[in-house]
Amino acid sequence: MADIVFGFGASHGPLLSTPPERWDLRAADDRKNPAHPFRGKVYNFQDLADLRQDEKDFHAEMSLEMRQKRHERNQAALDQLADKLAEVDPDIVVVVGDDQHEWFLNEVQPSFTVFCGDQVINAGLTEERLKAKSPGIQLAMKGYFPPEDHVYPVPKELAEAIVEGAIADEFDIAVSIEQPTGPRGVIGIGHAFGFICRRILRDRPVPIVPILLNTYFPPNQPTPKRCYQLGRSIGRAIAGWKGPGADKRVAVCASGGISHFVVDEDFDERMLTAMKNRDTDTIFAEPDIVFRSGTSETKNWITVAGILSETDLQMNLIDYVPAYRSEAGTGCGMAFASWE
Ligand SMILES: [Fe+2]
Repeated sequence: MADIVFGFGASHGPLLSTPPERWDLRAADDRKNPAHPFRGKVYNFQDLADLRQDEKDFHAEMSLEMRQKRHERNQAALDQLADKLAEVDPDIVVVVGDDQHEWFLNEVQPSFTVFCGDQVINAGLTEERLKAKSPGIQLAMKGYFPPEDHVYPVPKELAEAIVEGAIADEFDIAVSIEQPTGPRGVIGIGHAFGFICRRILRDRPVPIVPILLNTYFPPNQPTPKRCYQLGRSIGRAIAGWKGPGADKRVAVCASGGISHFVVDEDFDERMLTAMKNRDTDTIFAEPDIVFRSGTSETKNWITVAGILSETDLQMNLIDYVPAYRSEAGTGCGMAFASWE
């Protein structure tokens, strides 16, 4: 029987891998974006800035001094999580992240997918891959992807046990057995997984089980309630995994969130507190329309909160850092938590 010994959640936004003096590059992307989802409505940049002008002094929030302080806090929290994971030294890490048109394109977009192959590759960063991104993202890419290919073993017996548990619990879950390929060979794991491999696993080839959610793309994003319930099923499947080699210590990870690219501190506090208190009423009552754009990645956390609700581990918020980068309050609500 496997044992869930540790859980953690980490934001993975591009600002985490961008020097604070260059956060304005991502603000330039925000200014060009005509559709910022915020609390169930959609705004262009100027309308968003007008709407929020009395909420906070965002010019002060985005000052270089403030950005530097926040960058230091972000890095300290990431270091703390990476050190802790090295100390716990789990046999397997189950990573819940979203696929953002990285593996799954318009041919098919499953709500939930468990990767059940033998290994996954965090593909090396090529010039070509870099050039396809905006200048702000280019700067951050090294935080997600290594200079050369890194291979991570996948314990497929556990991945299959998770699928079998989900099917028994009436989730019609998708399975991927082979990493997709494109004209230039294997398509590397997506940003949600790459960031954890680089920044928290520090490129060590720890066996991982990737679980991919479609949080971003309509119309088949799973609801917060469905994510939490799938999480509970995954938690039971891990604990109930039997057979040769099943005597493993497992860590569980949520990648991404919380609110972005419009920071909503109220939302972040409400969700983080509800997850800590196992307050499913609050989580399930949050309207699905709020979970749009990067904020949708909160569903990765909700899934992991569901997994860990099947254990005695308690959530501890290491830090919450509202990383603002523009006068419209765009940026990323960075959260870092452990379950111990
Ligand atoms: Fe993301």
